[in-house]
Amino acid sequence: MISKKRIIAPSILSADFGNIGNAVSLIEQAGGDWIHLDVMDGVFVPPITFGAQMLQSIRRLTNLTLDVHLMTMKPGNHLNAFVEAGADRFTFHIEAEVHSHRLIKEINDLGISSGIAIVPSTPVSAIEELLDVVDQVLVMTVNPGWGGQTMITKALEKVRRLRKIQLEEGGSFLICIDGGFKLENSGEIWDSGVDAAVMGSAFFDAKNPEKILDKCRLK
Ligand code: DX5
Ligand code: ZN
Repeated sequence: MISKKRIIAPSILSADFGNIGNAVSLIEQAGGDWIHLDVMDGVFVPPITFGAQMLQSIRRLTNLTLDVHLMTMKPGNHLNAFVEAGADRFTFHIEAEVHSHRLIKEINDLGISSGIAIVPSTPVSAIEELLDVVDQVLVMTVNPGWGGQTMITKALEKVRRLRKIQLEEGGSFLICIDGGFKLENSGEIWDSGVDAAVMGSAFFDAKNPEKILDKCRLK
């Protein structure tokens, strides 16, 4: 079943951190739905990016939904800082948290949207027990840590499987993908049943970023 939502979340990982205000304005002008913030701790993934302070600065600039993607160990340790900084969505990796069901309930109880992310080597079966409590599933379509990678098309099979589970067993969780989304593959991605897609390098490296999101939605 193809989703009607077609939410696009530009990721600031590919933006100029020295001019983040400009990046936020660009996302707003281009019609981005969410701003995706890739938080990396140098342990769960090799790079280190930024913490809650970056989100706090961006929060002062925009009313867009701030969508945090934690690529860190011990994600629960960071929850309060990001919520206090103004996060609207908090997604963490199942591979980094044993007590993921408990953490999702904690996120939901704080009144923000919860998300569970799975890397390419993690099957959908690893998160099946969370689908009735989580607001979104983030299917990584690249190995996390860097922007500008090529999409792992096989990961779209997980999107189809999640959609099938939703049709058979119910569930209102959003199905999202992250990594390698661009104009050329957007038709295939929407056709797989994706509700929301993160776009980093294809957005910030685009000749006309203000036009590319609508073009991707029309595919
Ligand atoms: C990778 C991040 C992604 C990345 C997407 O670890 O989680 O959000 O920024 O960048 P692109 O769209 O360039 O693959
Ligand atoms: Zn991400």
